[in-house]
Amino acid sequence: MITYKRYFNKNIINEGGHKIEDYYGNKKIIWTSSGRGSIEYLIDIIGFQDNEYVLLPAFVAEGLIRPFKRKKIKFLFYKSNSELIPDTDDIKELLNEFKVKLIVVIHYFGYPQNIKLIRDFTDNRNILILEDCAQALFSCNGNGILLGTEGDFAVFSLPKFLPVPDGSFIIVNNSEYMHGKIKYRKSLLHFFSVISMIIYLYLKTFHVNKMQGGLSGVINPILLLLQIVYYYSTNYANNPVKISGYTLKNLQKFNYEKFISKRQNNILNIFKLQTLPFWKFLPVNINKINLTGIPLIAKNRKEIIRKLKNNKIEVLTYTKRWNFFSENEKSRCENEMKFYDEHFLLPVSENITEESFEKYFKTLTTIFSA
Ligand SMILES: Cc1ncc(COP(=O)(O)O)c(C=O)c1O
Repeated sequence: MITYKRYFNKNIINEGGHKIEDYYGNKKIIWTSSGRGSIEYLIDIIGFQDNEYVLLPAFVAEGLIRPFKRKKIKFLFYKSNSELIPDTDDIKELLNEFKVKLIVVIHYFGYPQNIKLIRDFTDNRNILILEDCAQALFSCNGNGILLGTEGDFAVFSLPKFLPVPDGSFIIVNNSEYMHGKIKYRKSLLHFFSVISMIIYLYLKTFHVNKMQGGLSGVINPILLLLQIVYYYSTNYANNPVKISGYTLKNLQKFNYEKFISKRQNNILNIFKLQTLPFWKFLPVNINKINLTGIPLIAKNRKEIIRKLKNNKIEVLTYTKRWNFFSENEKSRCENEMKFYDEHFLLPVSENITEESFEKYFKTLTTIFSA
């Protein structure tokens, strides 16, 4: 079974000798329990005035919107092109019209955005940039520079990459904001979210490795339920919450070098499929990127997803949340609305072995050529 969702894999659990800080360590790093919690903490230290806005991309994860809603910060959506690259003209227009304090740029699926391009016109206006690296752990831009090191701040989300039940870190690159000390809050909900995710990870590992995806009709609803508990308990936790000791202990055990190289190898393999229809990716130097998944576009994506599922390949999609958008925003940001409807992500994972890759490749070729 080729799966997007994390599960425990002994391949990367063998005391690698590196820590995440070794990769990002010359910066100030703050650990919290979730990406949402990290963003709430940043909102606090940035300190928005009533008339100040944040600019968000219109292809957006709920996990990013949520903290701004909770903190009652006013947000506006900026446009991107059909490959989800920010439309700088649109951003400039919004900057002329509104008092913007922060621009959030998402490195979608791990693909690098050009932060310098935005910096060029924000620096002299005193506008901060947050790189949302929730989907971009260890991913680099075309110059080999780690994503998250060029904006004023960056936020990461660990469970999207690693088999851990919680965890996020913030990188503070802007020296003005380096000195505050984080005050964590206690949260019983966070406890529930960690427990539900630990059960999820064990069950998923058992399901994938021992049952080979068998009994899906029974296991999948349980896994879904655990994810729902995780999602809601993380959403309503009293942020910022401390990362769990369980995760911190496990983070010491991973061999990140192996993790990165296995994933990059799989990315290179999957990219061999790019001559097939539905292929859609942002132009990029693919040698040093680390992706959550490879985005493809298809008008009949439901049918393709069904075929992939029948062949035990799980895909991911970001569901549209129309309630975020006014009618005006929907027609303004039509590229993003189309992307919501037509995209899906092929799994990239350290768990895909050379043997399973052969089968993966064959199945994809058959499905996409049909
Ligand atoms: C782009 C993006 N930003 C932020 C988040 C929030 O991260 P977390 O789930 O760790 O709270 C997510 C998660 O869905 C995301 O995809």
